[in-house]
Amino acid sequence: MDIISTRNEKRYCPHSLPLPYKRGEGLRGSFRATNMIFYFSATGNTRWIALQIAEAIGEETVYIPDAIRQGRYEYTLKEGERIGFCFPTHGWQPPGIVRRFIVQLQVAGAADSYCWALTTCGDNMGEAMTILNKDLAPKGLKAETLYSVLMPETYICLPFMKTDTEEKVRQKVGTAEARLPGIIEAVRERRRGIVELERGATPRLYSYVIGGYFNSRMVNDDKFAVDTDVCVRCGKCAEVCPVDNIEGKPPVWLHNGQCTSCLACYHYCPVHAISKGERTKRRGQYYFGL
Ligand SMILES: Cc1cc2nc3c(=O)[nH]c(=O)nc-3n(C[C@H](O)[C@H](O)[C@H](O)COP(=O)(O)O)c2cc1C
Ligand code: SF4
Ligand code: SF4
Repeated sequence: MDIISTRNEKRYCPHSLPLPYKRGEGLRGSFRATNMIFYFSATGNTRWIALQIAEAIGEETVYIPDAIRQGRYEYTLKEGERIGFCFPTHGWQPPGIVRRFIVQLQVAGAADSYCWALTTCGDNMGEAMTILNKDLAPKGLKAETLYSVLMPETYICLPFMKTDTEEKVRQKVGTAEARLPGIIEAVRERRRGIVELERGATPRLYSYVIGGYFNSRMVNDDKFAVDTDVCVRCGKCAEVCPVDNIEGKPPVWLHNGQCTSCLACYHYCPVHAISKGERTKRRGQYYFGL
């Protein structure tokens, strides 16, 4: 199993899957869906898990950035059907893009469904699931079975934040892989009340105070820059941006107000030409690749 992608390998790209629509084209209306998983993933960790669960138990998956692009916010569930949310923890909260999607989401049949959620995180996720459930409450949904899964670190913009060593990446992915059959079984059987969360020592402080500051002040596309002498004009950064905030080769950040600081543009660049502040020029790159 090769879990670290190096520069010249074929890489996972969320948009390499065929898209049934053109960007910006709306597909508004209500969608009949059987059991489904709504997921967000910037660098592939969460996608790896969400797609394995989906494949194992026959769920439909909805990649949240695509649903937003298509204007797909209305879904209908039959009695007892499963609905899951999978996302990375960002600043001890669900990512802004996930929270914005949930604000718009309408699920007919929510009250009689089985709802579960999973977050991946590099270290711990604080009260991210409490926040998720507060966001879901007005939609008639409550995630009753909750998981966090430690996966390789992707945040590298603070002085003490670095990508994991290769050994740590392998160890985290190996542990996650070993947990997956149990998670799949619980979701398949619609088990309620399972709470396996790595909240950390002071979760409320991290989610509401530090995470509150982080998500309101530090999630943005400030300080992104490209070294045009290094850039090979491949267009990957624009391709992987979940909010279409990048154009051109070399890239230009559009400052469209939607950047979720996911760092996909930084991590997927094949020549490490992108930085977000001086510090990140000396930091590693990571994305999940099998
Ligand atoms: C903006 C940002 C904020 C993050 N905040 C946290 C955090 O609060 N706690 C944590 O343990 N990991 C944090 N991480 C690490 C990711 O949650 C983790 O690497 C995740 O598995 C990435 O998933 P993805 O590859 O599906 O995008 C953060 C990553 C990013 C990009
Ligand atoms: S600009 Fe970069 S960090 Fe911001 S959403 Fe797009 S890929 Fe993520
Ligand atoms: S910055 Fe990197 S990913 Fe973007 S076009 Fe240049 S080489 Fe490609």
